[in-house]
Amino acid sequence: MTACSIVVILILLGTIVVHCQNETEQSRSHHLWGKIKHTLAFDSRQLNSEEMLLFPDVAFQSVNDNRIWRVMIHGWKYRTNRGKYWLGSHATSWLERLARNLLNPSEIMYLNGSINHDRLRPFFVTDRMNEDIQITIGNQTQTIRTDQNGEFYDQIEMTNDAIQTLKREQRNDFLSYEARGNNRVNATGVIQLIEPSEGISVISDIDDTIKVSEVLDKVRLLANTFISSFKAVPGMPELFQQWKSKNINCTFHYLSAMPDQLYTLTQEFIDENQFPSGSFHMRHFGWAAASLFNFLHSKSTSAHKISYLHFFLSNTNRTFVLIGDSGEKDPEIYGIITREYPERIRAIFIRAIKGESFNDQRFLDAFQGITKEKWLIFNDPKQVPIDLSRAPRTSTK
Ligand SMILES: *[C@@H]1O[C@H](CO)[C@@H](O)[C@H](O)[C@H]1NC(C)=O
Ligand SMILES: *[C@@H]1O[C@H](CO)[C@@H](O)[C@H](O)[C@H]1NC(C)=O
Ligand SMILES: *[C@@H]1O[C@H](CO)[C@@H](O)[C@H](O)[C@H]1NC(C)=O
Ligand SMILES: *[C@@H]1O[C@H](CO)[C@@H](O)[C@H](O)[C@H]1NC(C)=O
Ligand SMILES: *[C@@H]1O[C@H](CO)[C@@H](O)[C@H](O)[C@H]1NC(C)=O
Ligand SMILES: *[C@@H]1O[C@H](CO)[C@@H](O)[C@H](O)[C@H]1NC(C)=O
Repeated sequence: MTACSIVVILILLGTIVVHCQNETEQSRSHHLWGKIKHTLAFDSRQLNSEEMLLFPDVAFQSVNDNRIWRVMIHGWKYRTNRGKYWLGSHATSWLERLARNLLNPSEIMYLNGSINHDRLRPFFVTDRMNEDIQITIGNQTQTIRTDQNGEFYDQIEMTNDAIQTLKREQRNDFLSYEARGNNRVNATGVIQLIEPSEGISVISDIDDTIKVSEVLDKVRLLANTFISSFKAVPGMPELFQQWKSKNINCTFHYLSAMPDQLYTLTQEFIDENQFPSGSFHMRHFGWAAASLFNFLHSKSTSAHKISYLHFFLSNTNRTFVLIGDSGEKDPEIYGIITREYPERIRAIFIRAIKGESFNDQRFLDAFQGITKEKWLIFNDPKQVPIDLSRAPRTSTK
């Protein structure tokens, strides 16, 4: 075992999923989500194949010119490796050795033998670099190239007429588009339409906000990520469902520092627990991070969230509700953004996960200059208001 492979495994200790995109094998279901979910099923015949993931994203109607929309595309192309020993039984012994070097005996007992190999797979794939991907949405086609992580991003400008036509044709809140790469790998992606001024956008963290992850504890984080099935924070699915049904034109955007290699599993979690469908904005996990724990606690976690919040706020006139937890930097990040856009942030909700008092000095500091009516620390989702239009609209004191 080379030092390099040890580092690779170290980095990992970690995760799942992958799906195979062979359109001809999929019944052309009219129900888009049914179609997407179908692709989530793990197909062992495709162990050695090219695959592509498309992350649900958004399209903004221009705030200055309602004839123009910008459609955001984000995907990942990779090849899974059949026969690589870490995908087979060797993965277990490697992980056990690794665990022995890293963790104390009681922690090892906890992890022993239970790592879910499927969840590790997306971390052991080969990214497809510099490959052309053809995106087709409606009558428009555009070619983009994957970066060194196999990821591709694009903004496609479309006319409002074309968007409205697609909306009528597809009869769904989410528009679908096709992506095509080499080796006949096709995938269907979805885009959530964001009208510029109507409605509320909820931006939500995932880990420890709506899903039990225990990010502050290395071992439990790994167990919750790679071993146990994903569990919803009690009461959060109901809160989100009520937000969706009781507020007009309410859209959901899941902003997470977790690796996008976990996207498929996370999407399943959202669907199974009936959280509202929405766009996903996760981070690609690279080998430069020393571990999943370090990855999540690095400075770039804050940078990732702040840049997406700016991106949302600057591309629409909608009002926003921000929800997160006290585990990492959500209070500080949401505080910064709310001071920058006092009129646009309707409310901030923070789930206290460390038993903090609601008047903890940390929160007073994070929300300094922001009116108290605008932020709420909670430990039971029932404490959070359902009617978001009633939440205070006052600006900073
Ligand atoms: C897709 O599925 C069809 C039918 O099962 C099969 O003939 C074809 O080889 C598959 N394509 C790929 C790229 O696996
Ligand atoms: C991918 O899409 C192209 C064009 O629509 C089609 O010709 C090709 O057969 C598709 N490949 C698969 C595997 O479905
Ligand atoms: C969005 O806000 C800007 C600045 O207040 C304004 O000029 C623009 O007309 C607004 N657009 C819409 C669609 O409300
Ligand atoms: C893991 O579990 C197996 C079987 O339950 C046991 O024999 C082994 O000693 C355990 N390893 C560690 C490191 O606890
Ligand atoms: C695509 O082109 C066809 C034929 O010109 C047209 O009927 C259709 O409305 C167009 N679709 C969109 C989404 O623009
Ligand atoms: C909700 O958004 C749609 C556009 O998607 C708009 O036509 C409608 O007027 C909005 N509803 C309300 C009550 O603002």
